[in-house]
Amino acid sequence: MLSSTNQNQKPITVTINDKGNLQIGGCDMVELADKYGTPLYVMDEDTIRAICDDYKKSFSSYPKTNIMYASKALCTKAISKVLANEGLGFDTVSGGEIYTVYKAGADMTKVLFNGNNKSYEELELALDLGVGRISADNFYELALLNTIAQSKNKNVDILLRITPGIECHTHEYIQTGHLDSKFGFDLSQIDEAVELIQSEYTNLKLHGLHAHIGSQIFETSIYADEIDIICREVSRINNKFGLKLDEINIGGGIGVKYTNDDLPPSVYDIGEIIINKLNECIKKYSIEPPALFLEPGRSIISTSGITLYTVGSSKQVPNGRKYVSVDGGMADNPRPSLYDAKYFAQVANKKETTDVEKVTICGRYCESGDILIKDVELPELEEGDILCVYNTGAYNYSMAYNYNRVPRPAMVLVKDSMSDIIVERESYDDLMVHDNIPDRLK
Ligand code: LLP
Repeated sequence: MLSSTNQNQKPITVTINDKGNLQIGGCDMVELADKYGTPLYVMDEDTIRAICDDYKKSFSSYPKTNIMYASKALCTKAISKVLANEGLGFDTVSGGEIYTVYKAGADMTKVLFNGNNKSYEELELALDLGVGRISADNFYELALLNTIAQSKNKNVDILLRITPGIECHTHEYIQTGHLDSKFGFDLSQIDEAVELIQSEYTNLKLHGLHAHIGSQIFETSIYADEIDIICREVSRINNKFGLKLDEINIGGGIGVKYTNDDLPPSVYDIGEIIINKLNECIKKYSIEPPALFLEPGRSIISTSGITLYTVGSSKQVPNGRKYVSVDGGMADNPRPSLYDAKYFAQVANKKETTDVEKVTICGRYCESGDILIKDVELPELEEGDILCVYNTGAYNYSMAYNYNRVPRPAMVLVKDSMSDIIVERESYDDLMVHDNIPDRLK
């Protein structure tokens, strides 16, 4: 079976150049760190395009497939532009994400708006900007959305987000499809929602069902289970309510390779499993072949991203660990402190050597929990070395914050030896932009 780009630990353009430095997208990482400063997020355009290609090829035998990139993984205008150029749509979860993809020039009919507590203003924005589908999550939202649609004299195309009751083996905080979840309608609540749409919420047009089972998933069989449940429900609803639901959205969740122990599935494998199961269910439940929507986030963008840090102080605990500090940490990559996530790193300015020492890479934030990588073997690190942490494209910048009033890093897009700043480094003045002293204190 073909391997896919999400199974790589590093961007596909990684090499060591003749200076002995790490090179990505034809750019020397040490020179990039020098030019743009650190911490620095670096995104490799070729890797992004390669995984998009994997997805498109692996689902090509089911032409009704639509890939909607889950913007929550990383949402900037330039990244959205690359993905829109690849023909992807967008799964968005906030007014901010909708506005970003709009500003990037995305085809708004290929945008879906998700979320368990969308506000009036966000739903209004979605309608005004022509978002193609809204995935209605709960009864409150159905009523709210219908009211807004009526006030604008519009009809709104919706899906119903359902909770299929599938447990996947990932971190509890990133599981979503199990029954005790804050997201979506329980299977037992679907009929009531459909009845309300038919009888009262006449400005809502229901097209299909939507589910998402979790994130960083390695098991392929649960997608087959999910499709079976969704198709069964589509068939049941169509028969019971005389409808012709013809869209199913199976969410995202495909994993990536953070460490050598991670064995994410090939997108080609997943494609085959999903399409075979879908074709089987089309027969089994006597439904018309539905349009199939997928919402991958991490698997599209994680592998293409790395973060460069500069090494600073270090501390050898007598008879204990050696801590090496870098100039970023938990605020530019919250995943280790939030989920105990593991990462792999390499020194950008030093050749791989067998002469390694075991160190713990810690961040610069004032928390003992600010540890980026525990007990990793690296060539001896000195002040000024440039450390490259792999697989930081997803859920790093998008979850970054300003703890300790540290400005957020810049982001650079690299391709064919070109590097362009796509997110400026925050300045101290940027931190002051929304910060006011009341007149009476002046
Ligand atoms: N669709 C829906 C409805 C979702 O809730 C999510 C992710 C996705 C698609 C995309 O899932 P992906 O393909 O990226 O796994 N911050 C966590 C991940 C939270 C995922 C939330 N939902 C992390 O850093 O691991």
